[in-house]
Amino acid sequence: MERAIIRGGARLCGTVRMSGSKNAVLPVLAASILAGSPSIIREVPRLDDVLTICEVLQSLGARVLFHSGGEIEVDASSVSETEAPYDLVRRMRASFLVMGPLLARLGHAKISLPGGCAIGARPIDLHLKGFEALGARVSLGDGYVKVVSPGLTGQKVYLDFPSVGATENIMMAASLSEGTTFIENAAEEPEIIDLGNFLSNMGAEVRGAGTKVIRIDGRRELHGVDYTVIPDRIEAGTFMVAGAITRGDVIVSNVVPEHLKPVIAKLQEAGARVFEESETQVHVIGPERPQAADFKTLPYPGFPTDMQAQMMALMCVADGTSIITETVFENRFMHVGEMKRMGADIKIEGRSAIVRGSENAWGAPVRAPDLRAGAALMLLGLRAQGITEISGLEHIHRGYADIAGKLRSLGGDIQRVPDLI
Ligand code: EPZ
Repeated sequence: MERAIIRGGARLCGTVRMSGSKNAVLPVLAASILAGSPSIIREVPRLDDVLTICEVLQSLGARVLFHSGGEIEVDASSVSETEAPYDLVRRMRASFLVMGPLLARLGHAKISLPGGCAIGARPIDLHLKGFEALGARVSLGDGYVKVVSPGLTGQKVYLDFPSVGATENIMMAASLSEGTTFIENAAEEPEIIDLGNFLSNMGAEVRGAGTKVIRIDGRRELHGVDYTVIPDRIEAGTFMVAGAITRGDVIVSNVVPEHLKPVIAKLQEAGARVFEESETQVHVIGPERPQAADFKTLPYPGFPTDMQAQMMALMCVADGTSIITETVFENRFMHVGEMKRMGADIKIEGRSAIVRGSENAWGAPVRAPDLRAGAALMLLGLRAQGITEISGLEHIHRGYADIAGKLRSLGGDIQRVPDLI
């Protein structure tokens, strides 16, 4: 195991390039199962989660090739297995995204129930309701979900909550169904649009991805394509906060500024100067002291829950008190205890955290409880006085490609060291 050792105080400066999006590439790799011929996926971030979904694809019989430039080639023509094993799904919930493609392509699938995780119970009822609406029989037993259907038929599916995963799984199943499917109250995240474009390139007809109603006209067959995924807006948001919290001057490149609107607005409210340097670059100049700002996490285009912890780190050193409300996940304040070890003044009341900003934070040994919380502790460590030691880096590696190296390239004093034990 490793720890990150951070000496706070440096102002981050310079330009840093963002990787492809984790939350776009995972469903796109799952969707490659739908095609009877190979796909090449480009701008694939080097992440543990990407390796896990590739292991799932290989366990189902797909041929997965990692090309030198970072592209991944998936040939799913040889997929014959329809069971995704517990040890892989337990490692990464998003493995559950192979269920829709397997059901549509092979008529059945058996996937380990994902179970809860650090940030919430995370049920899959909306995914299963969607499959049932398209005509599948769903059964649960021995910790597994089984779905079976001789042939899916397009239907109207209304989602009680605009779940990202459920929208993606139903889009993929509907792409190889008979007839037309409408997903109502669908998720509108940019990753949904990216999946819609990938499916359309493969031959399905997807309209309205990115809006509340998505229409999918299914096809009998889909073919492989060459596809480049969108940049990672959460990685970009994380580095924009890094610039703001260190009184820095940072340009994030290879981004889609449109996708960052809620984060840009909140950073500006906190006193940072943020502007679009170009169509693919956003420039952040941090204030001497950020201003307190309230925010509530919501489905896109609201403020992303995946940026809640990072923005909380900024509010820990802000002038004034902020109220942060988490509405998407029921247990996403695991970072609060660790931030308090660094001198933060935070009180949790129900689904809100009341953050009384203080001039400074101080370094301490802390543990990353989950992916985004881990990144937030790094950001607070970059601002804090003294040394911060972060363990639990395995969480951070799941979703950030070489975050320590990128922070160092901006002047951050951060080292990864092996654990002494
Ligand atoms: C995706 O998770 C992302 N993961 C998450 O990012 C992100 O936080 C989340 O969307 C929300 O934006 C990937 O894309 C791989 P949901 P997902 O289904 O699809 C409830 C990160 O840090 N719900 O939109 O699992 C659920 O419990 C990760 O990169 C049901 O009740 O999120 C939650 O409270 C963390 N029933 C809410 O909806 C269901 O069947 C949102 O979940 C499905 C979801």
